[in-house]
This record gives sequence, structure tokens and C-alpha cells, in this order.
Amino acid sequence: MIQNPNAKVILVGDGSVGSSFAFAMTLKGLGRELGIIDVNTRKAQGDAMDLTAALTYNSAKTIYAAEYSDCSDADIVVLTAGAPQKPGETRLDLVHKNLAIVKDVVEQIMESGFNGIFLVAANPVDILTYAVLKISGFPKERVISSGTSLDSARFCDEIARYLELDPRDVSASIMGEHGDTSFPLWSQASIGGRHIDEWLADKTDDIEAAKKKIYTDVRDKAYHIIDAKGATYYGVATVLAKICHIIIEDSHSIITVGAYLEGEYGCEDIYMGTPVVLSRSGIQKVIEVPLNEKEQEQMQISYKALKEVQDQGMA
Ligand code: 2OP
Repeated sequence: MIQNPNAKVILVGDGSVGSSFAFAMTLKGLGRELGIIDVNTRKAQGDAMDLTAALTYNSAKTIYAAEYSDCSDADIVVLTAGAPQKPGETRLDLVHKNLAIVKDVVEQIMESGFNGIFLVAANPVDILTYAVLKISGFPKERVISSGTSLDSARFCDEIARYLELDPRDVSASIMGEHGDTSFPLWSQASIGGRHIDEWLADKTDDIEAAKKKIYTDVRDKAYHIIDAKGATYYGVATVLAKICHIIIEDSHSIITVGAYLEGEYGCEDIYMGTPVVLSRSGIQKVIEVPLNEKEQEQMQISYKALKEVQDQGMA
């Protein structure tokens, strides 16, 4: 795949997630320009200088503290601006604080004439991405939520650790809300063409207990990280860089992200985690994977929980 050598990415929000994302992009050497916007312009300037030094061993990219007007010809705007989750808070607790920030930021981006792809990562990400869709008026293909991409990466990692295999060989997704009502798509999980249940049966007589432990570890991972160090950032930053990589390479890769659903899985007018085909033009296709009865129920539980918060938040 040929990457777009002229790709321009603007990051809005240079906190822990944003600056880790900028670092991941620098190490990947993707595109031509990376502009950093933050309310704290000194921090954005400092990070741009610091990251520029890191370019020496990578590629000749330009990294700078940007202004909203720089978004005009950007290919991707990555939104991480927002208050982070504190110990004891759920992602949904952040909704009011972060909706106000997103509204302000997206209006300024739109004033620049931006016409690329929004990639949203601030929490609660499914609700905030919906707000970006509405405020921007962009087609749904070009407004992407990081959704359950991180949960799915954690899931593949936990499965691989349990089975002592390479996480890159695991094909498995977490779907629904990026949050407490997410659920594992066990019915479709496989490794090397073999269903996950067969792999688990090689290791244990109690497959259900193993599955429960793997999923619980995934669901609670962010809480454990926040308890230990106050925030999570390297995981999501790396996943965001991976999503940008797919867009910049136009590689038509299959990845689980948050996509706008219009009837798929019986869910309407909502962002939820699902596998998609991703390309330079954004989400090319929502892959409506077959769900078993339990998964269908779990999708509906997640949908209702999100819809309630979304309706209250937007009111
Ligand atoms: C995470 O899952 C907190 O949403 C963030 O790491």
C-alpha cells in the first residue's frame, strides 16, 4: 500500500492522550504535517519542539503548534480535547463537561473550512462523536469514534496471553459502548481459522469461566490503570495512530471502531463499536456481523444505555 506522503493531521487536545498520540505518529513517520492545537499554547509549542527532535531518526515531517485555521486543508482532525476520567468516575459521568468543550472546538474547526475526517477519542466517546456528527453536518463515513477499538486491542491481548499466542493473530472484537456495557463477540472470535472455543478447550475444562475472566479483565482494564496511575493514554494513543495509519495508507483494513448506525443490529441514530472497513474516505462499510441471541441482547442493552445518555446530553 502506498501511503499518502502529503497527509496532514491536526491534533486538538495536547493532554496525556494527545501528546502520546503525537509521539506515536512521530515514531510511525506518517504523513507530511502534524499540527498540535491546545488551549495551553505553550504546551503545544513545547511538545512540537520536543517531538521535532524525535524526527531525526524517523522521517522528515513537520510538527508545529497549530491554530484552528490550519485545519482548513487537513486530512484528519483527531479530537482528544476534554476532561479525563478521574478515579471513581465512569466515562458517561463526563458527558456534560466534555460536550461543551467539543461544541466549542468543532465550531472553530468548521470555521476553517475543514473537509476531512474527524477521529474522536474524548470520553464518553460514542456520545461526543455523535455531537461532532451533528455539529459538523459531515457525512457519517467521515466522523469516526475510536469506539471499542482499544477494548478490542485489549481483548486480543488478553486472549493471546491466556493461550500463549501472538495477539496479532487473534481475530476478535468488543462491541457496543466504549464503556461498562461493552460486550465480547465470542461467537465470531477465531485464531488461524479455528474457533476460539476450540483453542480454549485445549487449555481448560471450564471454557465459560475462562471467557468470563478474560472479558472482565478487558472491561475493567481502564479502571485498574486509572487507579494505578491516574489516567490511561498509551493504549488509546497507539490505537488512534493505527486508525490514522489505515486512513493515510488507504488500506481498506478491517478494524473495530465506533460507527454511526442507522438500523444495523436494530440500532438507530447512535455511535457504537462494530467492525468496519476503513479507507482514505473514512468508514467504507459497517460490517454487520452475525450476532447470536445473547450478543443481540447485549447489543440492545448497550444501545439503550447509550441512547438514554445521548438523549439527556443533547436535550
Ligand atoms: C480507556 O479505556 C479511559 O476510555 C479510556 O483507556
